[in-house]
Amino acid sequence: EAGELADELEQSIYAVGGFVRDILMDTPNLDLDLVVEGDGIAFAQALGDKLGGRVRAHRKFQTAVIVLPDGQHIDVATARLEYYEYPAALPTVELSSIKMDLYRRDFTINALAVQLNKSQFGRLVDFFGAQRDIKNRVIRVLHSLSFVEDPTRILRAIRFAQRYSFQIGGQTERLIKNALGLGMMEKLSGSRLFNEMCLIFEEKTALACLRQMRDLRLLSAIHPMLTLSPAQEELLEEIEKVLEWYRLLYLNHAPRSWIIYFMALANGAKDEETQSLAERFNLTPKQINDFLALRKQLNQSIYHYKMWKHRKGPLSQLCFQLDELPVEGVLFFMSKFKQEATRRDLSQYLTRLKDAELDISGRDLQLAGLPEGPAYGEILKKVRAA
Ligand code: CTP
Repeated sequence: EAGELADELEQSIYAVGGFVRDILMDTPNLDLDLVVEGDGIAFAQALGDKLGGRVRAHRKFQTAVIVLPDGQHIDVATARLEYYEYPAALPTVELSSIKMDLYRRDFTINALAVQLNKSQFGRLVDFFGAQRDIKNRVIRVLHSLSFVEDPTRILRAIRFAQRYSFQIGGQTERLIKNALGLGMMEKLSGSRLFNEMCLIFEEKTALACLRQMRDLRLLSAIHPMLTLSPAQEELLEEIEKVLEWYRLLYLNHAPRSWIIYFMALANGAKDEETQSLAERFNLTPKQINDFLALRKQLNQSIYHYKMWKHRKGPLSQLCFQLDELPVEGVLFFMSKFKQEATRRDLSQYLTRLKDAELDISGRDLQLAGLPEGPAYGEILKKVRAA
C-alpha cells in the first residue's frame, strides 16, 4: 500500500534501517521505518488514512508516526534533497537524498534501504557495503566522526555485536577508543545513557555486552562503581537464565529488566553509592524510590521466606508475603538463591499462585446479600488462602 501511495504522489519510498538489516539476517523485526523522498508528513497522513491509523507528526524533524488500529507503529521520515556547492567553477551536485539519509546513520548494517514503489519494488539500496559487512559479520561505522557525533553509538555497536555475534571492525574499535579518550562518555547525558542501557538489558546477551563494555573500559568511564566483579558476573549469569525462563513463560508482561540488572550492579553497595549511580543515569525520583524500596522489600521477603521455610508454614502464607514484592524482586530473589528447593517455591508462586483468579468476586457476595464492608476483603483473602 505504501508503494502504491508513493506512486500516486510521485515520490520515492523506502523501508530502511533495522527492518531491512533483519530481513537480510533472517531475523524477525516488526518495526517498520519508512523514508520518503518528498514530504514525509503528508505521506504519513495519507497512508494513515488508507490504513485506518492515527498519525502524530513532528514538524521540526519532518517525521511522523502512524499508529495502526492493532497498536503497531510505522515511523515515517523525510529524506531531504541536499545540494553540495563545490568550490570554483564546478557545478552544484544534487546527492540522492536517500543516500544522504543512509550516510547519517550509525553502522553500515543499518544503512540499507529497500525501495517500495511498484516499478522498483524490492530494489536493495546498499551504498556502503552493508551486505559485505553482514557476510563478514562486522560492525563498521560509516565515517570517523560517528561516535563523537553520537556517543550512544558506542553502546549500540556493542549491543549489535553481541546480539548477532559480530565483531566490531578494527578501525571502528579504534574510533571507539578515541572517543573514550576524548571523554565522550562523560559528556553523554544521564537519560540518554540510561535509555541505551535499558535497551541492552532487554537483550538476551546483556551480560556479554557488559563484559565487552568492561573490556573496552566503558563501564568504568560511565561510573567507577561499575566494576563487574566476579561475584556480580556470577549473579548476572543466573539473572540471564531466570529472565529467559520468565520471558518465555510470560510473553505479554515483560518485567522491568533494568531494575533487576541495577540490583545486581549495585549488589553490596551502600545506599549513598547507589544514589550516586542513580544520579549518573539521571533516574527520576520515582525510579530511585522504586529501586531503593524494592531492595528493602527484597531483604524483608528473604527473611520472611527463611522463617516460613523453617516453620514449614502453609503455602498461602508464602503467597501473601511474596504478593508484597514486585515481580522484578521475585526474579532477583530466584537469581540470587540457587538452591533447588527455593527456586521451586518461587517458580511455583510465579506460575501457579501469583495471578491465580478466584471463582468468586465481591459481586457474588453482594448477590448473596452480604452487607458491604471490610468483611468482603477478608472473605476473599480466605478463599485465596484456601
Ligand atoms: N540510528 C542511528 N544512530 C542512533 C540511533 C539510531 O543512526 N544513535 C539509526 C540506525 O540506522 C537505525 C535506525 O536509526 O537502524 C533506527 O533506530 P532504532 O530503532 O533504534 O534501531 P534498530 O536498528 O531498529 O535496532 P533494534 O533492532 O534494536 O530496534
